[in-house]
Amino acid sequence: MREADLDELLRIERAAYPYPWTQGNFRDCLKAGYSCWVGEIEGKSAGYWIMMNVVDEGHILNCCIAPQWQRQGLGRQLMAHLFQVARGHNTRELFLEVRLSNEPAKRLYTNLGFDFIGQRRGYYPTDNGREDALVMRLAL
Ligand SMILES: CC(C)(COP(=O)(O)OP(=O)(O)OC[C@H]1O[C@@H](n2cnc3c(N)ncnc32)[C@H](O)[C@@H]1OP(=O)(O)O)[C@@H](O)C(=O)NCCC(=O)NCCS
Repeated sequence: MREADLDELLRIERAAYPYPWTQGNFRDCLKAGYSCWVGEIEGKSAGYWIMMNVVDEGHILNCCIAPQWQRQGLGRQLMAHLFQVARGHNTRELFLEVRLSNEPAKRLYTNLGFDFIGQRRGYYPTDNGREDALVMRLAL
């Protein structure tokens, strides 16, 4: 992921999430040196993921597939790449948070071997209040 990708990635982010990240969120991740990768199809961004590495832990901060490319195996493919990059950093455990109501993401992650290890109350905004996050973990 490069600064030049951000306009395209923001379009995907806004189409895919009810409460999307801002350009500043992406910029901060690039500046901080997190692992930030884009999956392209015929030269166009189709998805991306961002992981923060802390010693031997990897925290997945974003993983997103453009709506028109969803349900075609791309999420699984990008996560396989993430695992490969994480192993290269000697990461032993991966963590992420997911909205309680986000069934597609929960299915993707449980299929990949993530377990539910906790719940953060009112972690995400919703149109009429707050929603819990489920915390998931995978031992690599
Ligand atoms: C979650 C997300 C990344 C999945 O990506 P994807 O490319 O559509 O997923 P894949 O096609 O690789 O599917 C992998 C598995 O995920 C699950 N899955 C994906 N979409 C699903 C859906 N709409 N309903 C139920 N399960 C779904 C399935 O278990 C699927 O395996 P299967 O096809 O063998 O049944 C994608 O829906 C997305 O970007 N959503 C918006 C952003 C988001 O919520 N990101 C996660 C934040 S924690």
